[in-house]
Amino acid sequence: MGTTLLWVDKGGAAGKGLRMSASKIVCVTGCSRGLGRAMVEEFARLGWTVTGCARRGEVLAELGAKLGAAHWLGRCDVAVEAEVAAFASEVLKRHGPPDLLINNAAIINPNQPLWEMSAEDISSILDVNIKGTIAMMRHFMPAMLEKGGGVVVNFSSGWGRSTSPEVAPYCATKWAIEGLSRATAQETDGKVVGAMNPGIIDTEMLRSTFGGGAGHYPDAQKWAKKAVPFLAGLSLKDNGRELTAPS
Ligand SMILES: NC(=O)c1ccc[n+]([C@@H]2O[C@H](COP(=O)([O-])OP(=O)(O)OC[C@H]3O[C@@H](n4cnc5c(N)ncnc54)[C@H](OP(=O)(O)O)[C@@H]3O)[C@@H](O)[C@H]2O)c1
Repeated sequence: MGTTLLWVDKGGAAGKGLRMSASKIVCVTGCSRGLGRAMVEEFARLGWTVTGCARRGEVLAELGAKLGAAHWLGRCDVAVEAEVAAFASEVLKRHGPPDLLINNAAIINPNQPLWEMSAEDISSILDVNIKGTIAMMRHFMPAMLEKGGGVVVNFSSGWGRSTSPEVAPYCATKWAIEGLSRATAQETDGKVVGAMNPGIIDTEMLRSTFGGGAGHYPDAQKWAKKAVPFLAGLSLKDNGRELTAPS
C-alpha cells in the first residue's frame, strides 16, 4: 500500500467568491469506512475542517452527525464525472479550496486470474481508481491553484510498485496512479512529488484479498493516529521523495 504525493503551488489570490474556513480544510474521498473514515475522524479531532464523499449516503449521514456541523460530507460516486463536478462545487461553495485533497476511494477485484474476470468488473476498477482520481484532481486543482497552493495525495499501493498474481487490474490502476501523479506534478512546476508506503492495514479491502490473514495487521484507527499527522505535515521538502508512513 502507498500513496503518491503531489504539491500544487502556483501563488495567487484566494478564490473569488469562495467561502474560506479559518481552520485547514481536508477533502477525503471514500470516507465511509476503512482508511478514509479513520482519516476524517482523526483530522477532525486535530481541528481540521473535514469534507469528504463516498457512495453510501446513509453511512455518511451517520458519520456527519458524529463529526458535527462544522464539517460536510456528500454522497458522490467518484466514477461518475457529473457527481464529482457537483460534489467539488459544493465543497468549494461551503468551505473554499481544500488545503489537502486525499484521493483515497478505490476498489479491488476479487482474487482471480485476469482472464476469468468480466470486462465490466475490470472497467469498474479502472473507472473508480484511475478516472475517479483524475476527475477529483480536475475539479479541485484549479481552485487550489488560484488559492495559492495545496497538497494532493493520491492513494497508490505497494501494488503500485510491485505486483502479485490475481490482482492484476488493481495493480494496473495503482501503477497508473503513480504515473498520473508524477506527470501532473510536473505540470504544476513539480514543487513536490513523492510516494508514501503506509504499510498494510486491516480494512474491508484487505480482508477481501488476504482473508483472515488481514487480522494480523493494524486497524485503520491505529494507522490514522500516525498517518494523519504525517499527511498534515507534508511540505515542499518532500518533493520527489519516496515517503513511508510511520508505522
Ligand atoms: N487497506 C490496505 O492495506 C490497503 C493496501 C493498499 C492500498 N490501499 C489503498 O488505500 C485506500 C483505502 O483503502 P481501504 O482499505 O480503506 O478500502 P475500503 O475499506 O474498501 O474502503 C474504500 C472506501 O472507498 C469508498 N468507495 C469505493 N468506491 C467508491 C466510489 N466509486 N466513489 C466513492 N467512494 C467509493 C467506499 O465507500 P462506499 O462503498 O460507501 O462508496 C469506502 O469508504 C484505497 O485507495 C486502497 O487502494 C489500502
